[in-house]
Amino acid sequence: MKSAVNSRHTPTRVSLGIRTLGAHRIAVITFEAAPGALVTWTPGALTELAAVVRSIDTSTVSAVAFIGSGSAFGAGADLAGFQQAATPADGEDIAREGFAAFAGITGLAVPTFAFLNGTAVGGALELALRADYRTVAAGTRAIGLPEASLGLLPGWGGLASLSTLIGAAATAEIAIVRSLAGRHLTAVESQNFGVTDAVIADADFLTASLTWAVDVLDGREPPALAIAAGSWSADAVRATVAKRIPTTLPAVEAIITLLTEWQTRSAGPSDVGNRTLARLAVGGDPIEADTVALFGALLHTDECRASIYAFFTLQAARKRSRPAGGDREGTAESAASPAPTRVGVIGGGLMATQLAVLFATKLDAPTHLTEVTPERADLALERVSAQLDRAAARGSLPPERRDRIAAHITASADPTDQTGSTLVIEAVFEDLTVKQQVWASVESVVPLDTILLTNTSSLSIAEQGAELLRPERLIGLHFFNPVAVLPLIEIVRAAHTSPDVIDAAFHLAGSLGKTAVLVADTPGFVVNRLLTRLFSDSLALIDTGTDARVVDTALVGDGLPMTALTLLDYIGPAVQLHIFETMHAAFPDRFTVSPSLARIVEQKLSGYLTTTGGLTPEAQAIVDGVAAASAAEATTPATTPATTAPTTAAGPALTSAAVRDLLLGGLADETARMLAEGTVATAADIDACMMLGANYPHHTGGLTPLLDRSGASRAQTGSTFHSPGVASAPRIPEQAVAR
Ligand code: NAI
Repeated sequence: MKSAVNSRHTPTRVSLGIRTLGAHRIAVITFEAAPGALVTWTPGALTELAAVVRSIDTSTVSAVAFIGSGSAFGAGADLAGFQQAATPADGEDIAREGFAAFAGITGLAVPTFAFLNGTAVGGALELALRADYRTVAAGTRAIGLPEASLGLLPGWGGLASLSTLIGAAATAEIAIVRSLAGRHLTAVESQNFGVTDAVIADADFLTASLTWAVDVLDGREPPALAIAAGSWSADAVRATVAKRIPTTLPAVEAIITLLTEWQTRSAGPSDVGNRTLARLAVGGDPIEADTVALFGALLHTDECRASIYAFFTLQAARKRSRPAGGDREGTAESAASPAPTRVGVIGGGLMATQLAVLFATKLDAPTHLTEVTPERADLALERVSAQLDRAAARGSLPPERRDRIAAHITASADPTDQTGSTLVIEAVFEDLTVKQQVWASVESVVPLDTILLTNTSSLSIAEQGAELLRPERLIGLHFFNPVAVLPLIEIVRAAHTSPDVIDAAFHLAGSLGKTAVLVADTPGFVVNRLLTRLFSDSLALIDTGTDARVVDTALVGDGLPMTALTLLDYIGPAVQLHIFETMHAAFPDRFTVSPSLARIVEQKLSGYLTTTGGLTPEAQAIVDGVAAASAAEATTPATTPATTAPTTAAGPALTSAAVRDLLLGGLADETARMLAEGTVATAADIDACMMLGANYPHHTGGLTPLLDRSGASRAQTGSTFHSPGVASAPRIPEQAVAR
């Protein structure tokens, strides 16, 4: 017998049913989302939940259980609603609504169970944590509290519930460290952490969970987790976070504040044998008032607004990478192109071998590499083998799968071995003539409908295809190193590229598990153009005498993942010099070929920096020499950033703040030019590229919200890239957010 309290105003439906098992009647509350959606807890849905919970007469049931319908338990609040919150008080109301709705669950006078039938994140996990016991379906891969990654904290009591269950240290690991890293818990991990009590097979999950619940009701209490008391260290958490994001984040500080407060106010993790009695004895959340206040304050921060913008930006980009509607990895077929039966990879170097592994793995198709000599072909296979071995050693590739992928990948030095390839990607030297020769040779042997992809970092697709008989099938697919880690593909459309080929490229990107952004055929596309502008402006300052350390650390406080010189060293001085030359040829007014970089390459040095972030003695000597020569020659404005900033003479005295203004100003200038030229359609495309291809953080919204927030956009272009709601909000008093 089912009764339901539904509303046309919320996509989430909450229904109540009674299941009888032997002597026990168990009230089962089920959440159901609109078709194709995940359960979200809007104010309307929370009200329904509270009403259904209130309607239960606990004198007639032995227990109450919660479960999602379909394959997910649910997500949190509706983020679009968060964007409407205009003041901290509005944010506080959102938190209060959750506490009010969940209070009924905490007050139920019978044992309570949450059956996590799949993904349980954010508010849905907070709901589940209100229950006394939790089972989880074995196939579940996403259990977590992602709020910190949105610039927020779990606002419905999840921190207190989880700390009571597993202690503050493990709570910080889940709610801060894993949240910022985007790493949710699997079913087994959730049990190991003590978040769930039992992992249960996916088939007949509800029935098996009910049977498990009856065991508990009959007195077979699951073992309690041994919690290491006193092992909580806020500084250790901060240090771990700093390795990923080297700046203070309000959300992290707020969560730390609440966990610290919980330790002083609560009785500590519960060791009462009967969890229901322990719950009823405690009665509520000792840190509710401060949770509400901090949630409201956080929702109003720049970091939170930018993070929510980042969430929607990435969600939209991912959706666009699956144009045929919900295609999954490994299904590379589209209306425009059938699934490739054989993949060709031209080149066997750093990128080509990673691409061969990715294509063979995701498309499960034979993949053939062509190199210039048999020796280099053998070397390529050794690289492939080493990658597969590393993946197997990490545990991410089962041995039988490793062997299957290895068997898929072959290599030779004979270009005619690509005869049967229905998809070919090239990753040979970044040299236009070499690439044109490659395409001439490939076109002469492959079928007429084979799609041709180039992984070029900066060369023109149109020029590569200039000599082709069918240039409309050539398109850029710019991957980022390391290919297995960075999710971005810049899909580069030349004027001649056919719409079907663009569609097929997006489809392929989705099949490879990547997110694609469409960019125009302009030098450096998006990520390399912006990074090179940053390198160029940084080196222009260093080469004209500004202290290298001051320049290189000027954006650290913004939380960018690596300093400019660290990234430049990682890319490799020779590769970057080559990109500089391309960019300089295209935009000589803004991109200089750094004299110090040219000398670093000339002297075959591995880069500028020592492992501790200072210049190496060799690099210091080069920089000093270049700066002295520059001072002597009284450098022209062409070698300084495209801003109105002081140049050489003022260089050595520039403060970190002044350098930051110059560097962000340069990025704002380049971004505005790219939008004006139509390199991408929107500022959000630029942010998606920078987050997915260069690991720019969510709390800066990628790049453009940071440029707006810092004032760089306005100073450089006279306006901002976004309306105030995205990048910034009226500032709240400092003390409202714990530091
Ligand atoms: P690499 O120098 O490691 O490998 C290039 C390989 O191409 C060499 O093994 C060479 O023997 C081979 N090769 C040259 N001419 C050939 C031909 N005619 N036929 C077959 N093989 C040939 O270079 P890397 O770094 O892998 O770059 C390759 C391409 O990928 C370049 O266009 C580069 O701009 C682009 N790219 C590089 C990234 C990076 O981080 N290294 C990132 C994204 C794109």
